[in-house]
Amino acid sequence: MLLADDFGLRVAGLDLSAANVALAQSKATAAGLAERVSFTVGDAERLPYADAAFDAVVVECALSTFSNKAAAASEMARVLRPGGKLGVTDVVADPARLPADLTTLAARIACVADALPLRGYADLLRDAGLRTTHTERHDSGAARMIDQIEARLAVIRMTSPARLEQIGIDIDRAGLALSAARAAVADGILGYGARPRGEVDMLTSARRCSASRAATNELLAELRTGRWRPRAWGRFIGRAAVLSWTAAQHRPRAVAEIAAVHAALAALSRGKRRTSSGYWVAISWALSTTHLGLLESNRSLGVANIMTLLRANLPAMRPRDGRLCAAAALASDLVDGRLARWRHTATPFGQYADSIADAVFWTWFAFRHETDPRMRLLALGSWTIPAVTVMVTSVAGGRMVDAPRPVVARPAALMQIVLTIRALSRPGTTQRPVAVR
Ligand SMILES: C[S@@+](CC[C@H](N)C(=O)[O-])C[C@H]1O[C@@H](n2cnc3c(N)ncnc32)[C@H](O)[C@@H]1O
Repeated sequence: MLLADDFGLRVAGLDLSAANVALAQSKATAAGLAERVSFTVGDAERLPYADAAFDAVVVECALSTFSNKAAAASEMARVLRPGGKLGVTDVVADPARLPADLTTLAARIACVADALPLRGYADLLRDAGLRTTHTERHDSGAARMIDQIEARLAVIRMTSPARLEQIGIDIDRAGLALSAARAAVADGILGYGARPRGEVDMLTSARRCSASRAATNELLAELRTGRWRPRAWGRFIGRAAVLSWTAAQHRPRAVAEIAAVHAALAALSRGKRRTSSGYWVAISWALSTTHLGLLESNRSLGVANIMTLLRANLPAMRPRDGRLCAAAALASDLVDGRLARWRHTATPFGQYADSIADAVFWTWFAFRHETDPRMRLLALGSWTIPAVTVMVTSVAGGRMVDAPRPVVARPAALMQIVLTIRALSRPGTTQRPVAVR
């Protein structure tokens, strides 16, 4: 569906399970893609398609589960037109070092038990007459996949434990297997790899779309399929809460860092006699703690993100001098992103936190320290309106969208500079006068 929707392609999907095919078809119909996407029940080892019928074949996290991988590889080569491209993404493993917990039936279903090393996939495809031109490791994807499996199991355990029994999953053993998998990823025994033939658009898109964004897209797509009804919102909130809980459980260090930063901020804002400062800090803490999955494979918050969080909470400190406050916010915005890139700690967490910190700080600043109403209107137009538009469009479209990023000049960046220069050019304390009755 992603290929049809993002690239406008005609897509034929195939799976051995009739239930999966029915579910996929109904999702395609609900997304208005039925014209371009069709799903068939079939065996990858005996594809029901003519020779050279496809320009490209994509096999996503399934090759490792096929019992006869060589047969499936030669079937994929058969249905590709000459010069056609194959994209494979799958779990990669060092089978000799896999612990016993990861060779069970459940592990087989999760693509782990029978996964090959990267070299093994290359040999398999070479024997089918395919030449490998590019490989990539996405091991943070494996860690993310483990988080998602754990979150899904937790949801099923809470909502319909009988289903787990029906499909023969012992939740305690599954927990052990997931812990073993997490350790294996950390030790480099298990990972996620991609082995496309030629320059495959699918892989470009996989690189563009981070694992946390894919999880968010999945939640938003489900919300859209449920027509945004109260039940769909209930499911959305429940699943998001489980994902947040799982992500936080695996990042205790980041949880502690966020707690320490916000405790310090709360202590600093205490003397300000404003309960709103306390709420501000509490909301910042709650938003940060519930979005730790956006840290991807990082376990710690990092200096750059701490800097961003401090900027977002400057208003809670109730600074009297707008000049200092604007200069500090501008400086932190210039430094945090660069610092994250320089230290190789840039993540979607930082990206979103940065946008939210800018939006809340500068809108607050314009309303608190600017006397010109046009400046306040411009601040709303630069930060609040784009942020609300992005949120509404993402929820309505069932997928996260980004605000367009102008190439020449960003209005929000220009506005920050204008507001700072105006603040610096005003003498002394620049707090907006409050009417006294
Ligand atoms: C781990 S799932 C991945 C599916 C999908 N790409 C995803 O990420 O949700 C593996 C899928 O391969 C399918 N499968 C296993 N053996 C197959 C075969 N011989 N032919 C076709 N599909 C098969 C299973 O039904 C299952 O849906």
